[in-house]
Amino acid sequence: MKLILLGAPGAGKGTQAEVICENKKIPAISTGNILREALKNGTEMGLKAKSYMESGALVPDEILIGIIKDRIKEEDCKNGFILDGFPRTIPQAEALDGMGADIDVVLDIEVADEDIVTRMSGRRVCEKCGASYHVLYKQPKEEGVCDSCAGALIQRKDDHPDTVKERLEVYHSQTEPLKEYYSKQGKLRVVHGQDKVEDTTRMVLEALEDLS
Ligand code: AP5
Ligand code: ZN
Repeated sequence: MKLILLGAPGAGKGTQAEVICENKKIPAISTGNILREALKNGTEMGLKAKSYMESGALVPDEILIGIIKDRIKEEDCKNGFILDGFPRTIPQAEALDGMGADIDVVLDIEVADEDIVTRMSGRRVCEKCGASYHVLYKQPKEEGVCDSCAGALIQRKDDHPDTVKERLEVYHSQTEPLKEYYSKQGKLRVVHGQDKVEDTTRMVLEALEDLS
């Protein structure tokens, strides 16, 4: 299955990607995590992306298109993959079509803007593996420590309320048009991401039931 997860910042794409990845045995590719890793390692790409990411803007299309083009050619993607955070603009979607990626489904997780801002303030992420937690809704077994790799849980710089508002604006103006783009291709499926994590997971898996 080749799947794109669409949705506002904080809609729960990363959280649900983890579950789908386990359920369908395909890798989840998060462009946000790839960029944060590059930033942490001080690579040239990381340095280029830094100021865009910290202000809540999008990193230039050509950087992201290059990342995805290489990544989906890797061995672990031969039975499918989940794209979390890509494409985010029409030119990125057109470039993906041009790669012959042959996407099966685009799953859009819908959450209202008001809920996003509250949600983001409680998010904590693993500094080592990028796994996502929440101080109220998804707590680790041990406070401040990642369940899967024992890394420290930290708050993302771009989760400050002002930056979240900027990210939401960018989402509505640049990413939301992708709904129409994929709806025209007959690939769009919508689930509501307002409910508890487990309830959203159930709806997500139901929406993908017919795909292996
Ligand atoms: P990225 O990391 O992709 O950020 P994002 O899309 O803004 O998405 P998030 O990771 O913030 O949210 P999510 O939907 O994965 O939610 P999560 O599951 O963590 O991108 C960061 C930056 O990189 C961008 O701003 C941009 O600069 C750059 N970038 C990346 N890709 C790019 C591209 N293609 N083009 C250009 N630039 C790009 O959940 C959020 C929180 O809520 C967590 O704490 C979670 O535990 C909790 N939660 C999840 N579900 C629920 C629920 N149902 N109920 C309650 N809490 C929940
Ligand atoms: Zn971890």
